Amino acid sequence: MLVPPELVAHRGASHARPEHTLAAYELAIAEGADGVECDVRLTRDGHLVCVHDRSIDRTSGGSGVVSALTLAELRRHDFGSWHGGEPASVLTFDELLGLVADSGVRLFVETKHPVRYGGAVERRVAAALAAHPVDAVMMSFSAAAVRRFKALAPATPTVLLFGRAWPERLPPFADFAGPGVHLLRKHPARGAGTYCWTVDEADDIALCVERGVRFLATNNPAQTRGVLADS
Ligand code: G3P
Ligand code: CA
Repeated sequence: MLVPPELVAHRGASHARPEHTLAAYELAIAEGADGVECDVRLTRDGHLVCVHDRSIDRTSGGSGVVSALTLAELRRHDFGSWHGGEPASVLTFDELLGLVADSGVRLFVETKHPVRYGGAVERRVAAALAAHPVDAVMMSFSAAAVRRFKALAPATPTVLLFGRAWPERLPPFADFAGPGVHLLRKHPARGAGTYCWTVDEADDIALCVERGVRFLATNNPAQTRGVLADS
């Protein structure tokens, strides 16, 4: 019997709410997501914030590079209105951890451009997770980041993400492979037990079920849940 994958809300329920805002994560949890995904970056004064891009230009009313701004400066900008949502403050990783701890969903945290910061992002993530009782998984496209994190927090599962070539062997510090869904289409026999991103189309959702994908990252958890129920 095919076991359906766990649904992971990519940047929250980002189809309907501005990505990485509290509203996006609250909706994802209300829509029945099993887990939520977030990207984290360090501010100039050392706070972890949930922002995907290097700069805040696309997802806020402001501009500038996250690592060059303090948390107080980031808080002056609206991260909700660009997507037609209510005005929203930048979400800190600690605030997201609070929500996740209260709701009991799994948290998938992705560190961005970690090489540039010499491991500081991974150290901060490991320390924040150690302080909160959450069911967390760490992810990165950087093998160096995953290796470094695993050394800091061996009990926390890790995902090595990839979008170009599918590695022949998973390194020992990665617990799960993290292919883009386009690679599942390309490799007919692969996918079992993986974290697959970002899956919104019905055909791709069916493919993930067929291949035995373990975690399915989607921008639209409610719709994906519906497709799974009908399949
Ligand atoms: O869930 C993994 C996926 O988020 C990787 O791509 O660019 O959306 O962070 P990106
Ligand atoms: Ca991500």
